[in-house]
Parts: sequence; C-alpha cells; structure tokens
Amino acid sequence: MQRFAFIIHPIDAKRDVARKYPIARYLPEALLEQFIKTRDPMTVAAVQGVKSNTGEELEGWLIACPLTPRQFVTLPLDFVYHRLEQCGQIAIELGASIIGLGAFTSVVGDGGITLASRLKGIAVTTGNSYTVATAIQGAVKGAELMGVALRDATVAVVGAGGSIGGTCAEILAADAASISLVGRGLPALEATAERVSSRARSTVRMFTDVAQGLRDADIVITVTSAVDAVILPEHIKSGAVVCDVARPRDVSTRVAAERNDVLVIEGGVVRVPGDMRLPKYGKPDEQFSFGFEPGTAYACMSETMILALEGRYENFTLGKEVSVHQVEEISSLADRHGFHLEGFRSFERAVTAEHIENVRNAAHRSPLTTTCNEPESSLPL
Ligand SMILES: NC(=O)c1ccc[n+]([C@@H]2O[C@H](COP(=O)([O-])OP(=O)(O)OC[C@H]3O[C@@H](n4cnc5c(N)ncnc54)[C@H](OP(=O)(O)O)[C@@H]3O)[C@@H](O)[C@H]2O)c1
Repeated sequence: MQRFAFIIHPIDAKRDVARKYPIARYLPEALLEQFIKTRDPMTVAAVQGVKSNTGEELEGWLIACPLTPRQFVTLPLDFVYHRLEQCGQIAIELGASIIGLGAFTSVVGDGGITLASRLKGIAVTTGNSYTVATAIQGAVKGAELMGVALRDATVAVVGAGGSIGGTCAEILAADAASISLVGRGLPALEATAERVSSRARSTVRMFTDVAQGLRDADIVITVTSAVDAVILPEHIKSGAVVCDVARPRDVSTRVAAERNDVLVIEGGVVRVPGDMRLPKYGKPDEQFSFGFEPGTAYACMSETMILALEGRYENFTLGKEVSVHQVEEISSLADRHGFHLEGFRSFERAVTAEHIENVRNAAHRSPLTTTCNEPESSLPL
C-alpha cells in the first residue's frame, strides 16, 4: 500500500483550534496565537478508504502544524521551517513516502525547497499544480453555468504575481478575450506578464488596485496570500463568477449578503475516488472534517494522493514556479485515478441549479453597468 502525509494548519484560529481545545473560543486571538505557537506539530487524523480507478489503494495521515496564516508570514522563517521539519519527521516515522504542503505551509518562504533539502527519505510537493488545474476548471465551468463563454470574457486573476495565480493567468490568457493581472506590487505582476504575453490573445493589463482590476472582469480567480478578505461587494461586476481558491478566503462574507447578482464559488475542492474516511488520531470513532462534503479534499492534498497512487515519490511541485506542463501532467494523472472537481459550494453551502438561476436573473435586472478601466500598466502584444 502507498503511503502519504499532508500538513494542515488552522485557517481560522478560533474555530479550528477550538475543535481540539474548546477553551480557545473564549480567548483573544493574540493570546491564542501565543498559546498554539508553543505546541509541537501532531498527527490529527488518518486517511483511509482511498481507492483509485486502477485498483491501487493508499493510506495517509494529516499532520497539523499549529500556526495561523498570520503567524506563517510574520514569525521568523527559521522557526516556521523548524515546525515544518518536525511535521516531516512525524511523516517519516509514520512510514509516508511523500508529504504535501497545505495552504500557508507552501506559501511561506521558498515553497518547500528548504524543507525538502532538510528531509531525507521523503518527497515533498506543494500541490500547486493540481490546484491550478482545478481552479481553472471551476472558474470556466462556473462561467458556463452563468452563460459566460471564456473566449468572450475578461478574466482577472487576483494574486497573479504568485505561484498559483501566475500559472492560472498564463493558461487562461490563451483562451480569454482579455486578461487582467491583479496584485499588490507591480514587479511581481510584470514577471507574470512576461510569461503570459506570449500566449495572450490581447493586451495584458496589470492592476495594483483590486477595485480597478475587477471592474470589467466577467471571470475572476482569486488566490492571494492575504490573511484578510481583499474582494469586497463593491468590487465585483454584476453577473461575474468569482472562484476563490485562497485559504483563508479572499472574498468577504459581506458579498454573500449584499450581492445576489454574482456567483462566488470555492475553488480547489476535489472528489476523491473510493470511500475516503478521516478517523481522528487516538479517537477513531470520530471523523476529522475539512468543513466540506465527506469524501472530498483540497486540490493540494489530492495532488499528494495522486502522486502516491502513482508511486511517484518525487518533488513534483516544489518552489514557486508551476509550469503548464506540470498542470497538464497532474490533470491527466487525476483523470486516470478518478479524482475530479467537486460540485460547487459558495460560502459553506452547496450551489444548486436554482441558486445559479437566481443569480443570473438578479444580474439581468441589475442596473450596475461597467466600463472598461485604465490599467496601471499594460504589455502590448
Ligand atoms: N484550495 C487549495 O487546494 C489550495 C492549495 C494551495 C494553496 N491554496 C491557497 O492559495 C493561496 C495562494 O497560494 P500561493 O502558493 O500561490 O501563494 P504565493 O505564491 O505566495 O502568492 C500569493 C500572491 O498573493 C499576493 N498578495 C498577497 N496579499 C495580497 C493582497 N492583499 N492583495 C493582492 N495580492 C496579494 C502576493 O503578493 P506579493 O507578490 O506582493 O507577495 C503573491 O503574489 C493561499 O491562500 C493558499 O492557502 C489553496
């Protein structure tokens, strides 16, 4: 049997830490962060019941690195690397041959390169290749359901200077009518624009202001490393589809309450083949939950499982660069083993055909129209 491990961490300090330590609910966030910083990584659940279409099976473990997104980006890098290395050592002791990096464990530092160099006998993958694949699949499918064709659409990628966002933009630029790169600094956007421009169908525009970047976007993929929401109700064009891949989420919960004319979907959630169960470590009668449907997992975890099922114990996606070739290869392996995009969820609820119809009707009635806006910078073809 193939064996893998996957590192997770609290996304919402109060909610996630309170599952293990109920007192956390009553502590101020700063105190909570002080407390969890002192805790060593631990195994929180086993992964059982995964069975590929090929008949191959695997087992795995979820290992928690008790740091919040804010701590990952503010604590000294050496401390964070040490914690990740501890996670890797646990995985090795459990017998895993590959370890995947969930959420901010791959955002931090050099995207797993240092970690891989410090761990012997285990491969490391960020999972970003399959995350790119599923983000694009979700955004395009969501747009179709809203009656928006990619070839006619203005696509905006928020966090386009990053690992996942950069490659999403590179791939989508080949088919979209127009592409907008949105981020917080021009240098990172310019680096992505260089990659994107050779494939793009039209001018590549760059924005460091989210409101400007989204004003005429029909399809949005948002995948920043921000710890707070960056997309607010007033930023989104009526009738647009927003695929939020970031954890913690980029789209403000206010959007759910205030904009019934836009479709927001969670990106990067995948249906796993077989009958996946996540018994808690030490309490096998209780199931661990990611907060979405049983039998589904994050795309980055799915990439780790796919590689394990293949017996490909190699550093498949490491560092910040993700190539189009890697995305294509992991997509085809996902198909082979029976992993596929899960039905849509929006703000913790399943998206029904009725919901989409309501959004379409509300967008049709909306008085909000948009005009094409001036980019901060653009790369002509
Ligand atoms: N759903 C899944 O399966 C899955 C899998 C993996 C990762 N993720 C999530 O995906 C996100 C990004 O991961 P990544 O590896 O691509 O990270 P990354 O390489 O660090 O890229 C993040 C990008 O976001 C930009 N950014 C940060 N704050 C911003 C803000 N306030 N406004 C605009 N842009 C901002 C960063 O700008 P700078 O260039 O200035 O730093 C950077 O370019 C994270 O939230 C992670 O948890 C989800």
